Amino acid sequence: MKSAIYPGTFDPMTYGHLDIIKRAANIFDNVVVSVLDNKEKTPLFSVSERVNILKEATKDIPNVSVESFSGLLIDYCKERGIYVIVRGLRAVTDFEYELQMSQMNRKLSDHKVDTVFFNTTLKYSYLSSSSVKQIAQFHGDLKAFVPDFVADLLYERYKNK
Ligand code: PNS
Repeated sequence: MKSAIYPGTFDPMTYGHLDIIKRAANIFDNVVVSVLDNKEKTPLFSVSERVNILKEATKDIPNVSVESFSGLLIDYCKERGIYVIVRGLRAVTDFEYELQMSQMNRKLSDHKVDTVFFNTTLKYSYLSSSSVKQIAQFHGDLKAFVPDFVADLLYERYKNK
């Protein structure tokens, strides 16, 4: 069985993330999507809200599960016995950060953990969770970027801010 972990902040999940999840699920036997519980950041959605969004969006993909993690990604990989990390690459601007992270993770794991990159589908190449949040704040159209239930959660969240 070949498994992979797709880690991220997912605040919130977008169609860009979902595209990577589906393509990874076509290649790996199991894909664990894992939300980073980062105490230093104040995300719009709590870890459990982000996990629930991902669970709802992936409920029809049988080989995808959703979890959260804290601390170092490679420790979490070791704990789960999974040695492949999946990440999406949108453009060259992502490249430096992603390359540094993958090399660091490989070094920290004694060359046991590798990162596999999926190039983002062109129509999502400019999409990010931050831009989605900005659009939601001003009640812009989110149809092309996130599932409707996520758009509703976003509008609702900004109504009280
Ligand atoms: O969606 P993001 O914010 O680009 O995801 C970044 C993430 C969660 C993959 C990264 O910040 C991470 O793995 N953090 C855990 C801490 C860690 O292992 N850092 C060492 C890697 S250099």
